[in-house]
Amino acid sequence: MLTAPLVLGVETSCDDTGLGLARGRSLLRHLVVGQPQHAATEGVVPQVAAAAHLEALDPLFDRLLAEEGVTRSDVEAIGVTAGPGLAGCLAVGASWALGLGAALDVPVVAVHHLEAHLHSLWAAEPQPEDFPVLALLASGGHTALLGWDGKSRPSELARTRDDAAGEALDKVARLLDLGFPGGAALEALAAEGDSKAVRFPVPLRDAAGFSFSGLKTAARRRHEAGGVEARDLAASFQAAVVAHLMDQARKALAGPWAGFALVGGVAANGPLRVAAAGVAAEAGVPLHLPPLALATDNGGMVALAAAAALAAGDRPPVTDLRPRWPLEAA
Ligand code: KG4
Ligand code: ZN
Repeated sequence: MLTAPLVLGVETSCDDTGLGLARGRSLLRHLVVGQPQHAATEGVVPQVAAAAHLEALDPLFDRLLAEEGVTRSDVEAIGVTAGPGLAGCLAVGASWALGLGAALDVPVVAVHHLEAHLHSLWAAEPQPEDFPVLALLASGGHTALLGWDGKSRPSELARTRDDAAGEALDKVARLLDLGFPGGAALEALAAEGDSKAVRFPVPLRDAAGFSFSGLKTAARRRHEAGGVEARDLAASFQAAVVAHLMDQARKALAGPWAGFALVGGVAANGPLRVAAAGVAAEAGVPLHLPPLALATDNGGMVALAAAAALAAGDRPPVTDLRPRWPLEAA
């Protein structure tokens, strides 16, 4: 049997510069650097992010090759996130990848960022036989329930009507002076707090979809009113976000699913992972989780997604970048 090609994955869609190396279904190694530049502005400034990607890519690639003990000419194919994401950031990653692809004379394939998040699931466990899987994607830019057959583009079953879950967590973290992005810091503070200190209603109990803006406003009002400890507000808000995500997932899991998965940056959240295990057990389906290091944006998931596409004989070219790239589009 021929060995699968060594695939380099390139992720620059937002504020993490990620590179990964995969061979077939195996992720060999990945490295990611964040952009502390955005802490001062408490949000991603697109042109600052694009410039930071440009600076980070070459040294990160050299480090990745050295740590894996391979050379640049060992790379046999490249996958790069072509969207959705910030236009300037996508452009930096794509031109870097296309330049390298031309120099090495290897194919460069376009990867959909949300599909790459789904492939992060198979970095630590073999891809299961049983599909379709219901996946809850919760990140800084997206919150949706996806139906996935493991092969083709997933279909979107429900999405947020306003903020993404990660965005709401980041905004409340900012309120509590926890830095940006603040999801992980909020989780750490919440671990010391009382999740029952503040009662938040669960949004959209009787409807499908997600909505976080009401919860976020309620948290801000409660904070401004005073008299509540930051750690208690953090714990209560995180519990409300988890309850809402799990309420929608539980309802959707009433369908004929063969598994439940959690992906995206918010999938790094401990209490969410624990709650998801309960929801999957209740529905009688296996739970698939990405390793913690692969929940937030990284190049490993892009390498895995590109390797899967190449193995299926699919070579979507990087002809245009898609800052908005609906899942339904080719
Ligand atoms: O997937 P991702 O890295 O980027 C996007 O595609 O948006 O997700 C980033 C989001 C941020 O909002 C960040 O605060 C959140 O994921 N996040 C977390 C945790 N780690 C990252 N949220 C809750 N708990 C965490 N441990
Ligand atoms: Zn992402």
